[in-house]
Amino acid sequence: MKLGLLFFLILFGLETIMFFFLHSTLVESRVEEELIALQTRGNSHRAILEKHFDENTISHVALMESEANTDVVITNSNKEILGASVDSSLIQRYIKRPITSSIRKGKTIEDNWKKEEYISTVSPIEQDGVLIGHVYMFQDTAWIQSLISRLNKQFLIAGFIAVIFTITIIIFLSKALAKPLIKMKEATSQISSGDFSVSLPKTGDDELGDLARSIQLLAGDLNYLREERNEFLSSISHELRTPLTYIKGYADIVQKRDLSPEERSQYLSIILEETNRLSDMVKNLFDLARIDKNTFDIKKRPIDLKEFMKKIETKFSPAFTEKGMLLSVNCLESITISADASRLEQIIFNLLDNAIKYSSPGDKTTINISRTKKHVIININDTGRGISEEELPFIFNRFYRVDKSRARALGGTGLGLAIVKELVHAHGGTISVCSREGDGTEFEIVFKGETECENNTFG
Ligand SMILES: Nc1ncnc2c1ncn2[C@@H]1O[C@H](COP(=O)(O)OP(=O)(O)OP(=O)(O)O)[C@@H](O)[C@H]1O
Ligand SMILES: [Mg+2]
Repeated sequence: MKLGLLFFLILFGLETIMFFFLHSTLVESRVEEELIALQTRGNSHRAILEKHFDENTISHVALMESEANTDVVITNSNKEILGASVDSSLIQRYIKRPITSSIRKGKTIEDNWKKEEYISTVSPIEQDGVLIGHVYMFQDTAWIQSLISRLNKQFLIAGFIAVIFTITIIIFLSKALAKPLIKMKEATSQISSGDFSVSLPKTGDDELGDLARSIQLLAGDLNYLREERNEFLSSISHELRTPLTYIKGYADIVQKRDLSPEERSQYLSIILEETNRLSDMVKNLFDLARIDKNTFDIKKRPIDLKEFMKKIETKFSPAFTEKGMLLSVNCLESITISADASRLEQIIFNLLDNAIKYSSPGDKTTINISRTKKHVIININDTGRGISEEELPFIFNRFYRVDKSRARALGGTGLGLAIVKELVHAHGGTISVCSREGDGTEFEIVFKGETECENNTFG
């Protein structure tokens, strides 16, 4: 309504201004034409009178004009009337006006068609350069006024049609504009009330269509997020229930039964193990929640990967050796990347932890660092048990474990890779995986890199 009214006022204003200018231009040019015609007629009478300035010709000219809708008055040089086609009392006051300069082509002596009874011109009659008289021409303004009033009527009709036309267009336009907008408003209120099943009609390829598609997309995304959140919450409660059941069960046994010291210590160590698992899970969940909320601080500093990996190798090698496995790190050049050292360590830790957990004695894990012009690539591959093709797409999902019971036995919560993925993304990098069941697994992390060259091998 508001938009339509505004449109109407603007268009109506524009139309009024345009009509006003058109009207006044038309009227002015019409009056101008009349004056020129009057002057031309006066000049042609003057031409005849200059040749024959006698009573006969004068009355002849007056007679001719009495039949036309213009009038003529012929005077001598003293403005005494010699002949006229109109009652002289009506036009006396125009003739009495002083003619300041005598111009050969004549001049207008009255053009006020609105107030005066006549518009008028005068042409001087000369013989041998001496002024001998004047030809005055008159045009009744009533005629012009009736012409103007006819014009006004036509303008009123045209204006009325224009207004009706404008209103029709505005009603049509505001309906075409407002209808989808109202629908979208309804859709957004529906979304905000928690119902994401909105369906907006398909509009064109214009901005309104874009907006409708964006709202539809938003509803879809929100729905996906809600489903994911619900799934995540039910996974959490499920994951928490298992260790809690163990803890409660064994705590009951320890409290109620008479147990031998060995049994007691065995049950207590199970309780401790489950408590550790719970605390790990809570820590991991807390990390993920912080990454999701973007309150996770990534303090990027230049890191020399050669030194960094050396430390990692020293730290992790004993764990590999203990399980009869091997860890080797290859870095052909000294490479600097900009990253948060503790987060990068967490990424490598989670991947190496998996490599240990899902490999058997005798297997080997290799870390290769390389770089291209723009990227730094960290490759971690193991010769462990690998992951089947069907499972591979899901391993980065939260709580996803290929073999639930086995992974549980190994202490897995299924959050390790989800955290790795989020951390890599938080660094602006990407992670991908390649694996064949029975052959081993290879993770590739690609960071944007700022590098410096120096050939070196260690590991
Ligand atoms: N190097 C690997 N070799 C074989 N399977 C792997 C490897 N890395 C991960 N997986 C599979 O992917 C699943 C998900 O790994 P993720 O690290 O997210 O969880 P987790 O190791 O079970 O638990 P967490 O890391 O939280 O202790 C694992 O359960 C495992 O089945
Ligand atoms: Mg893991």
